[in-house]
Formats: sequence, C-alpha cells, structure tokens
Amino acid sequence: MKVVVLGAAGGIGQALSLLLKTQLPAGSELALYDVAPVVPGVAVDLSHIPTDVKVTGHGKDELETALSGATIVLIPAGVPRKPGMDRSDLFNINAGIVRNLVDAIADTCPSACIGIITNPVNTTVAIAAEALKAKGVYDKNKLFGVTTLDVIRSETFVAELKGLNAANVHVPVIGGHSGTTILPLLSQVEGVSFSDEEVASLTHRIQNAGTEVVEAKAGGGSATLSMGQAAARFCLSLVAAIKGDNVVEYTYVQVDDSADAAFFAHPVRLGPNGVEEILPYGELSEYEQKAKDDMLDGLRKDIQLGVDFVNA
Ligand code: 2OP
Repeated sequence: MKVVVLGAAGGIGQALSLLLKTQLPAGSELALYDVAPVVPGVAVDLSHIPTDVKVTGHGKDELETALSGATIVLIPAGVPRKPGMDRSDLFNINAGIVRNLVDAIADTCPSACIGIITNPVNTTVAIAAEALKAKGVYDKNKLFGVTTLDVIRSETFVAELKGLNAANVHVPVIGGHSGTTILPLLSQVEGVSFSDEEVASLTHRIQNAGTEVVEAKAGGGSATLSMGQAAARFCLSLVAAIKGDNVVEYTYVQVDDSADAAFFAHPVRLGPNGVEEILPYGELSEYEQKAKDDMLDGLRKDIQLGVDFVNA
C-alpha cells in the first residue's frame, strides 16, 4: 500500500502525514510531495517516529517519483482562505494546481484512488474528473471529494449540545463542501431529538464551521489540524476497504442519474476498487428537503465551473 500526499508540507499536509505515519498499516509506504523546499525535512522529521511505515520526501521536480506505484493519492495542495473569503475565492489559484497534479496522476498512477481536499472541493473534484477524462483514464469509482470534516464537525457539535460522547454520535452529511451545500441530516441522528431552533442553529454552525476557524486564525489560514484528522480518517477507511473490510463513509462522488447534482456527498460503501456502492441517503425532514432544494442550483453551478475550466 503506497499513500501519496501532494502538498505535504502545508498545514493540512503535515498534520495528515503525521497521522498516516502513525496509523497506516505496517509495511505501507508514505510519499510526501510539495513545491515548498522544506518537504524533504518534513519526511526526515516523520521518519524518526518508530512505526513500520516508510516515509519519503519529494521536492518540486520529483512529482513522478512520488506518484509512482501509488494506491491512494491525497491532494491538500493549494492556498487556504483568509477572513472574508469564500471557498470559491480560491478557484483562480487552486484550479490550476489541481489540474496539474491530476494530469501527473493520470500519466503516472492512473489506477490510484484520489482524495481531493483542495478547495473549492465542489469544483476541484469536477476539474479532476474532466482532467482524467481528457487523458482517457477516468474511473468515477476512484475519485472522491473529502467531506469527512463536515461529518466530524457535526458529530462534535451534536455531542457538545446534547452532552454525549462524540465517539458514539453519527451524523450523516450530504451535498457538497461549501456553505449551504453542506447538508447535515440531523433528523437521522439516532437516539437524539432536536427542537426546530436547535436544527436551524446547528445546521448554520456546521455550514459555517470552516469560516469559524478562518476567523479565529485571523489571517493565518483555515482549518488544518481538524482537516488533517478528517482526511486521515477517510484515507484509513479507504485503506481498510482496499484490504477487504466493509466500510461506509460519507464522501463527494459522481452520482449517475442523480436528481441532485452530478457530484454529491452520499454514504458510500468502499471496497478494493474505491466506490463499491453509492447508498441512498434516506428520507429527509421537511427542513432538510427545503435546504437541499435551495442549494442545488449553486452546487450545480460550482460543478459546471470545474467542467468548463478544463474544457474551455
Ligand atoms: C474547512 O471546511 C478547510 O474546507 C476546509 O475548514
């Protein structure tokens, strides 16, 4: 099993790489790539942690070496938000970064599973899909937008509000990964009930949790540590599924014949080849149905922006 992190020297990349160094199965390989010159140092630093995971560092001219033989490639590369910015404000810089990295994946390790973390995820996943199609190697079952951060935030906030152990709280989150496209299904949280006011305020907090971090960091970036944890959870689930475990995660994938949007976060059964089965997200409350109806246009536009970026 070889996992590659593209953008490994950044805030998310370093946290993610640390978690993978300590949690990937024994015998795995972890390749760290970044354009920042510190990346070999990050690899040396991690290599002193005594686990049976081999870490290598690759600078800007070594993308191919980093990607060669990859099973899973995670992409947190790109610039983060500053206060006042929306995830879509990152499009101009991050779209090109994702396009170039995915082109290299297509050339070097076209059968790898790809997890996109770079914002705006609603759009960058569509860019990745189109870039892979242009190279003739697109497999919709192997491309994921990592939306796990929305899930873990929801679990934390629900547990806080209801005085529960977050480890026992499970919150489905569907849709996309930006503002109102993030749709937590609080009506489906087992054993917990919410007043209408709680639903409205929790939904709002979950949808704006990224901005909560951006504002708290006051110009120093966006969520890195919680995103690192979320991406590590997603990657480790994928690793377990590739090894044959039965695993379900909520993730943003291509959904054929969807009445929602071409890409939509669903509960997904993962398997040795990526998506094993896209599961239905079940019944929505009236509140959730309206929230979904209201955000679909925006999500579809985000996706179209990505399609047009590659095909223009
Ligand atoms: C967030 O939700 C960075 O998009 C990430 O905070």
